[in-house]
Amino acid sequence: MRIRPFTNDDAEETAQMIAKTLRISNSKDYPEQYIEFNIASHSADELIKAANERHMYVACDGERIIGTGGIAGYWGSLTESILLTIFVLPEYQGNGVGRKIIGALEKDEYFLRAKRIEIPSSLTAVEFYRKMGYDYKNGITEPEDGMMYRLEKFR
Ligand SMILES: CC(C)(COP(=O)(O)OP(=O)(O)OC[C@H]1O[C@@H](n2cnc3c(N)ncnc32)[C@H](O)[C@@H]1OP(=O)(O)O)[C@@H](O)C(=O)NCCC(=O)NCCS
Repeated sequence: MRIRPFTNDDAEETAQMIAKTLRISNSKDYPEQYIEFNIASHSADELIKAANERHMYVACDGERIIGTGGIAGYWGSLTESILLTIFVLPEYQGNGVGRKIIGALEKDEYFLRAKRIEIPSSLTAVEFYRKMGYDYKNGITEPEDGMMYRLEKFR
């Protein structure tokens, strides 16, 4: 398994990987409508647009894309950044791929220049991110609108 920068040629396969992961892994925590909305907002076209504004990576098993993750400046800040679009295919979860994606993101210049890094976390992934050293933003342990936790790490 290796992690490399995303290119636009990866967009279609990455979008399909995210859609599968949302439908299988996240559907236990979210209604179908929310899952389908999220799939639409991670279409190939949307990923290409997103990649213009953030550094995106893909995790590959051979040629196959099995995970992804991205990092960007937080609303244009030079001292705060945000981790986004982190997914690992269900059949590859629990084997350290997510940890390796976080490792790659934490070597990225958007991470290294930041004093604070935020993650909008799904209900599904919150314990994973806590294991990666991210804590509840402002000590708020309840998800916003019951849908999303805000986590952060200081450097
Ligand atoms: C969250 C996700 C990216 C984690 O990827 P992963 O490859 O399964 O994670 P890893 O195997 O690298 O796990 C790293 C550590 O976190 C722990 N962990 C992972 N998911 C966990 C969970 N749901 N609950 C508790 N611990 C968890 C693992 O046990 C492991 O701990 P260890 O190193 O002590 O053994 C993956 O499960 C996923 O894609 N989930 C669905 C999509 C999603 O919600 N993404 C986040 C959007 S904000």
